[in-house]
Amino acid sequence: MNVLVTGGAGFIGSHLAEALVRAGHRVRVIDSLFSGKRANLEAVRDDVELIEGDCTNPETASRAVEGIEAVFHEAAVPSVARSVKDPLLSHQTNPTATLTMLEASRNSGVRRFVFAGSSSVYGNSPTLPKREDMETRPLSPYGVGKLSGEHYVRVFASLFGMETLTLRYFNVFGPRQDPGSPYSGVISRFITWMLQGKTPVVYGDGEQSRDFTYVANVVDANLAALEAAALGGEAVNVATSRRVSLMELLRGVARETGQPLRAQHERERAGDIRHSLADIGKAERLLGYRPRYGFEDGLRETVAWYRTQPLPAI
Ligand SMILES: NC(=O)c1ccc[n+]([C@@H]2O[C@H](COP(=O)([O-])OP(=O)(O)OC[C@H]3O[C@@H](n4cnc5c(N)ncnc54)[C@H](O)[C@@H]3O)[C@@H](O)[C@H]2O)c1
Repeated sequence: MNVLVTGGAGFIGSHLAEALVRAGHRVRVIDSLFSGKRANLEAVRDDVELIEGDCTNPETASRAVEGIEAVFHEAAVPSVARSVKDPLLSHQTNPTATLTMLEASRNSGVRRFVFAGSSSVYGNSPTLPKREDMETRPLSPYGVGKLSGEHYVRVFASLFGMETLTLRYFNVFGPRQDPGSPYSGVISRFITWMLQGKTPVVYGDGEQSRDFTYVANVVDANLAALEAAALGGEAVNVATSRRVSLMELLRGVARETGQPLRAQHERERAGDIRHSLADIGKAERLLGYRPRYGFEDGLRETVAWYRTQPLPAI
């Protein structure tokens, strides 16, 4: 199949692009290189067509979807904290980009559109695990943007008959996640600090918890979405359905890196949620999805990869 991965030079997008090439698809990537890197696509450099461009530009978006049968929309500036600081940037790169890609896809006759959603749409409601039919109440502009994207994805199915799906990713981690900014994923930062013999910064008491999901599981869910029989704008959780606290995570990173456990606690960040855990029954029913990698397996592979990398000072 001819497929497009937006944000394909980023962390998740590059793993997905690689897996799609391995599965025999013809893969095009569009990426503005805002946070993505060409180097992330090194292993498939000769097999992937890379368009350096912005998904919010309708002409670039049209060029990107030409001849494409399925779109995986991963492009975004994926940070809660950054969206609190800069809501307009978040809106532009998140829901505006999503709508622009949907509209270009519709005009070009793209059959299937799979959207990278987020657990941030659930907000802070105390009920766990999160099921897709629960109330959504995002706490940050980033979460609002993801929820808005979901609605567009659903409406493009009901109005225009596109086969669309939102995959609500829960805290993804793995090789290539960039630890280099204060907005980066917590696992990438904990590993980087620990490998450098520094003390990791923990916002709050560290008892907040997440359903940390190894990137290979997210790739599996996307590949399953390409094969699924019929899609009509549904939203499904993609996670492992296991809750790990930040302190538990830190102990795991200390063990894998061979470093002593230490933490410097700082004030909680605005917009952060307290606990997160997914029910993944719907993904199993709709996509046959089951996480192949557990948290510990993923953490081991991730630490092993970071050991081979030059690490930035953070
Ligand atoms: N990493 C997670 O834990 C997580 C959790 C939930 C959802 N998501 C979603 O998954 C997707 C991928 O996230 P990631 O962690 O790989 O982040 P990432 O920053 O590594 O990848 C995003 C990519 O999108 C590109 N991009 C940004 N704006 C663009 C634009 N306007 N046009 C073209 N390209 C653009 C960036 O350059 C980057 O390569 C995002 O939509 C994110 O919101 C990620």
